[in-house]
Amino acid sequence: MKVDVLLGLQWGDEGKGKIVDVLTPQYDIIARFQGGPNAGHTLIFDGKKHVLHTIPSGVFREGTQNVVGNGVVIDPVIFKREITQLLEAGVDPRPNLYISRRAHLIAPTHRLLDAASEQAKGKAKIGSTLKGIGPTYMDKTGRNGLRVGDLTSGKFEERYQALRTKHLGLLAQYPDFEYDLESVEAEWLAAAKELGQLQLIDTEHFLNEALDSGKRVLAEGAQGTMLDIDFGTYPFVTSSNTIAAGACNGLGVGPGRIGEVIGIFKAYCTRVGSGPFPTELLDETGEALREAGGEYGATTGRPRRCGWLDLVQLRYACRVNGVTQLAMMKADVLSGFDAIPVCHAYEHAGATTANLPFGIEPDEVTPTYSDHKGWQEDLTGVTTVEGLPVSLHDYIAMVEKEMKIPVKVVSVGPDRAQTIQR
Ligand code: GDP
Ligand code: IMO
Ligand code: MG
Repeated sequence: MKVDVLLGLQWGDEGKGKIVDVLTPQYDIIARFQGGPNAGHTLIFDGKKHVLHTIPSGVFREGTQNVVGNGVVIDPVIFKREITQLLEAGVDPRPNLYISRRAHLIAPTHRLLDAASEQAKGKAKIGSTLKGIGPTYMDKTGRNGLRVGDLTSGKFEERYQALRTKHLGLLAQYPDFEYDLESVEAEWLAAAKELGQLQLIDTEHFLNEALDSGKRVLAEGAQGTMLDIDFGTYPFVTSSNTIAAGACNGLGVGPGRIGEVIGIFKAYCTRVGSGPFPTELLDETGEALREAGGEYGATTGRPRRCGWLDLVQLRYACRVNGVTQLAMMKADVLSGFDAIPVCHAYEHAGATTANLPFGIEPDEVTPTYSDHKGWQEDLTGVTTVEGLPVSLHDYIAMVEKEMKIPVKVVSVGPDRAQTIQR
């Protein structure tokens, strides 16, 4: 069997959690391969809303195994809180939850370093979620990191102290940054101990053996392609590979084992945090999209920046991920517009281009738009392809023609049930 990968094609928050939950009955295992608690994946069903940060979105379907792969970074305190919230919702994720020994731990000092770095950057800040993601991946590639497997190795205390000492030295370089490590450290150490009692395994063996025995695996991405460390709008990105290739090194499966690559995009665009966003709407239309779409961060509550669909950006994302099928989210939010502008090309360096260039700051590219006929109908109760308005069919056909990839899923509301498979 092969691993299918589901990932975001824009700047995150495309609705990955919802679609993973919808698709989970078709899989035996759901595996997160990168990112950490910077992610916020929202699932809504039976009138209840759940937000997951580190735990895979397969957790609500009985019998599904959920894997946190080596590419993920884990904050034990947030992980523990997620488990507690699931228990309160009547779901015990622990029997079916497997955590890679090779996954890295986010220490309290990683969070402090994230905050200190952002504060020092002032106006140039990344707009990080302040979960310690950047510093943790820096320690991973810098070969100083602390891993889940260290928790049970007998060397945890020694390794933790070495990292702590290093971090206190780094924090001294930010004299304006005030912090209180003691107030959070005890809780973190207790949560780390509890994490060590969960099912810690060598997920690379587990997953490859599962595939060999015919099990179906879905890899769940976090963030989005434009936040990828290599292909995103650097430096306004996260610190991991969010693209399909990230599933290989974040899970330990070979490239030949990747099957379908399911790319998720909103029928418009959003971004939270700093960095370029060519089709951003800084006017009341942007405001209207934010309100209609409930565009407030699932992790930080920050208002998301909103803009029109950008096909230059989407084409680039389909290319670097090798997307084989698309899912279009939040079509319902666009109801009520007479015309919907869509960006088909950029003016860049005196020419028109359909290929996303190196830089997409406002002084580097100007998006050019063409109008598409809007739809007035409320889509939130539509349950069949036939029930969708003609102009939405045309909008989807336009995307399929430009991307040369089929749109297999159309989402018309946040609930699990508001999903139409084509
Ligand atoms: P993720 O990070 O990709 O899982 O996405 P988030 O959960 O951060 O953000 C997606 C938001 O849109 C959540 O509030 C979802 O409940 C909501 N949502 C998902 N699909 C739809 C949809 O088709 N229509 C509407 N109106 N909301 C949706
Ligand atoms: P999901 O999985 C949207 C953004 C942050 C910031 C940048 C770097 O829910 O789609 P970081 O904390 O990673 O150092 O922040 O990336 N960001 C996200 N934006 N959705 C996410 O995750 C995000 N995770 C990080 O806002 O601009
Ligand atoms: Mg999110």
